[in-house]
Amino acid sequence: MKDEGQRGFIPMEWQKRTKYCGEVSVKDAGKEVVLNGWVNSRRDHGGLIFLDLRDRTGVVQVVINPDNKDSFPLAQRVRSEYVLAVSGKVSKRPKGTENENIATGQVEVETSALQLISKSKALPFELDEADKVDERTRLQYRYLDLRRPAGYMALELRHKVVQRVRNFLNNQGFLEIETPDLTKSTPEGARDFLVPSRLQAGHFYALPQSPQLFKQILMVAGFEKYYQLARCFRDEDLRADRQPEHTQIDLEMSFVKKDDVINLSEQLLAETFLEIGQKIEVPLKRMCYGDAIKYYGNDKPDTRFDLLLSDVSDIFTKSEFKVFANVIKNGGVIKGLKIDKASSLTRKKFDEYTDYCRGLGAGGLVWMVIDNEIKSPVAKFLSAAEKKSLINSFEANPGDVIFLVADKTEVVNQVLGSFRLLLAEEFKLIKPGFHLLTVIDFPMFEYDEEEKRLKSHHHPFTMPTEDSLDLLDKDPLLASANAYDFIINGVEVGGGSLRIFDPKLQEKIFGLLGIAKQEANDKFGFLLKALDYGAPPHGGVAFGLDRLVMLLAGRQSIRDVIAFPKTQAGTDLMTNAPDIVSDKQLKELRLKTE
Ligand code: AMO
Ligand code: AMP
Repeated sequence: MKDEGQRGFIPMEWQKRTKYCGEVSVKDAGKEVVLNGWVNSRRDHGGLIFLDLRDRTGVVQVVINPDNKDSFPLAQRVRSEYVLAVSGKVSKRPKGTENENIATGQVEVETSALQLISKSKALPFELDEADKVDERTRLQYRYLDLRRPAGYMALELRHKVVQRVRNFLNNQGFLEIETPDLTKSTPEGARDFLVPSRLQAGHFYALPQSPQLFKQILMVAGFEKYYQLARCFRDEDLRADRQPEHTQIDLEMSFVKKDDVINLSEQLLAETFLEIGQKIEVPLKRMCYGDAIKYYGNDKPDTRFDLLLSDVSDIFTKSEFKVFANVIKNGGVIKGLKIDKASSLTRKKFDEYTDYCRGLGAGGLVWMVIDNEIKSPVAKFLSAAEKKSLINSFEANPGDVIFLVADKTEVVNQVLGSFRLLLAEEFKLIKPGFHLLTVIDFPMFEYDEEEKRLKSHHHPFTMPTEDSLDLLDKDPLLASANAYDFIINGVEVGGGSLRIFDPKLQEKIFGLLGIAKQEANDKFGFLLKALDYGAPPHGGVAFGLDRLVMLLAGRQSIRDVIAFPKTQAGTDLMTNAPDIVSDKQLKELRLKTE
């Protein structure tokens, strides 16, 4: 029997639902319902056919009796993911056949009429086994992947978080204002995506890395409180928590001090956690940038566990051990961490750790098992006094293991900052729950070794602290910024700053960054000009919505909370973007002449 009618198509008429699958309950027993949805599974029980029908609310069991001569043949033909309309009567399931695992497990629908709406080919993967399927296949068939409850729940949570954010900010008097996506390139640290202009051949728009300058100019325009769920585009190397396009909860306020923005930001974060039933105490813990680097090795400290870095350079200033002595002589440091009761670690494991640290750029890794004496490949190079000081410094007990890395400060921090995470995972030190933190007191600048010049730590529009103004000329690397970052479980979910509103100071900062006056005018002339016409003091913040929702949803990758994400290579496997374009298009844009 064919499902297609005379014209070769499945008949277009279909019955509209009166009830969602997941909402059928014992209260409906005896009532007639119409359901629309997908066949989640089909079971043929020698006579009766059972279908689990699914829509976005859940599944419900549908029974088709062989006596139902109109519907039974269709029930025999349907396969997974066919789309059906089912009419029937709700009944309580016979005793002993209830299913505790699903919300509708007490009931079933006895089918009176079954209607085919749409067919499905055999699936490239079973939806309930998608977790075991290669992510590339899932991304290629993203619409199937998203049919799974996990996909739906992630995007539903994202939606709810966005609504909460909007409500919260609306209630605080913020206006939601859009800014252009076709814009002029303004540097935020990453590479721009460029869009050629057809009307002005040879000229390019840039997609915004963030609406930073537009939101500042909205402050000059007197809006005082702005926000936007802004798409931001950055051509950078991708990781699990980075996409070429991401969404920011972007906001800016006028006539505010630093603490006003931090307080509002923390309240906003706490508000989003209510969506998953978590009450977050504000104000959040604050940590200064210096301590974050010192104890955690980076500026996004994962505070779910201790395992703090400790600087033991002082112990080795006169060491016989060449590796350490040389590093200190060259201005480097020796830092380490101690892990309790780890004497079961094998030689093989130590080699693995050493390779891991080397892979991150360390010259090596010293490990020491504390026993009555120190067991370590380098023990023979260390004096008794050095060993004693080391044990005291780490407050180490027998059975503990100390790891040390010696190198330039940045290398040591980077290596140990990552190694600490690896150890925490392997030794199961990570406490559950959410650990939020605000990092403050950032430096204004860092030194770019490659380009041999200063770079902004945040961005060039960040206001230095009043105390730092004198340092700008004397020792700019010591100057502090009015900037702040928000960290959850070691993930940077947001950051912002007070902005420079004095055009002279802005020019000065451009100068320190090695941006010549002409270049500053070419690139940011519009901002400098705006600042000339009565700019209010202002500041703001941007949260990475994808990262925030990823954490709230308990996922490991932002791809899980983005409807159509891209791979590490920046490809959308479903649409196959980026793709080549026709010669005609290229010629129109004058990117090709013949
Ligand atoms: P920043 O560059 O720190 O600040 O970005 C703000 C937040 O956006 C998120 N984020 C990303 N998420 C996913 N993929 C990416 N590629 C990506 N890049 C950034 C992070 C980050 O904390 N204009 C400033 C904000 C301001 O000063 O108001 C800005 O864009 O969670
Ligand atoms: P080597 O002299 O390279 O054989 O190193 C001797 C020991 O010191 C080995 O256990 C190395 O892993 C370790 N080591 C070498 N360089 C460093 C370094 N920069 N920091 C920490 N340990 C190192």
